[in-house]
Amino acid sequence: MATIKELDETKVELTKSLDTIKNDSEKKKRLPISKREDIIEIKDFNFYYNKGKVHALKNINMKIKENTITTFIGPSGCGKSTLIRSINRMNDLIEGALYEGEINVFGENIFAPGTDVTQLRTEVGMVFQKPTPFPISIYENVAYGPKTQGIKDKNVLNQIVEDSLKKAALWKEVEDKLNSPALGLSGGQQQRLSIARAIAMKPKIILLDEPTSALDPIATIKVEELIVELKKEYSIVMVTHSLDQATRISEMTAFFNDGELVEYDRTKKLFTNPKNQLTEDYISGRFS
Ligand SMILES: Nc1ncnc2c1ncn2[C@@H]1O[C@H](COP(=O)(O)OP(=O)(O)O)[C@@H](O)[C@H]1O
Ligand SMILES: [Mg+2]
Repeated sequence: MATIKELDETKVELTKSLDTIKNDSEKKKRLPISKREDIIEIKDFNFYYNKGKVHALKNINMKIKENTITTFIGPSGCGKSTLIRSINRMNDLIEGALYEGEINVFGENIFAPGTDVTQLRTEVGMVFQKPTPFPISIYENVAYGPKTQGIKDKNVLNQIVEDSLKKAALWKEVEDKLNSPALGLSGGQQQRLSIARAIAMKPKIILLDEPTSALDPIATIKVEELIVELKKEYSIVMVTHSLDQATRISEMTAFFNDGELVEYDRTKKLFTNPKNQLTEDYISGRFS
């Protein structure tokens, strides 16, 4: 049996290591963008639909930083969704689709033979334009992913559901009705539920494809606030058709046009002092 003194010493040690963890994560938050790690590296990436007839992405090269909100902007059809969906191989099932090049996530090429795509999609979660809850309860929606990972313990699942809903800023609104159907929630709540579902898988990166385009302005602001909060813990890549949204919440912006990456820079720089005439034309509304 441990003596009181030993227990006290253990407590001091634990407190110290907790402080170290806290300091480390605070330090990380304060890192300037240039010092943050590159977690995604896209190299000479080309993507084609219809067995090569549609060249949707043309030689894309870019690096994406951790704990940063990176937005993809550009006119409809320029390839934003194709690229974001490539990052966790969501395009795999499209018949006649072809790619060339590499996408490295945490230093591993996700197209390398033997890549565990389920594991990739656990680390790189995705939220779509339209909220997509299953026609089951709020609780079961969030618990679904962890259950497929083999987690059965009720207490563990309860904790995951609560933590994920809290992180998705939805807990307070639903804690009393976890067993109600998810489809009874408002559009904005459903979208935060989709985010909670992604969080429940404990991802490192969250991809969002126009997550607010189906929402009203108030629900949009709530989701934006949530995304800003999430970047402290996750790396966020988001497609948006709203230039205001990109300037409001992102630190890095990539502008695409006709399958090409035209300009990629800090959001502030790209919107106030773009290098490329096409970017200038797009952000000033000369084409859309
Ligand atoms: N499943 C598909 N089959 C064939 N062509 C597609 C498919 N999805 C997208 N495309 C084409 O690829 C190009 C890029 O589309 P997309 O990535 O959806 O653009 P964005 O998200 O920027 O609007 C467009 O020309 C589009 O028509
Ligand atoms: Mg799209």
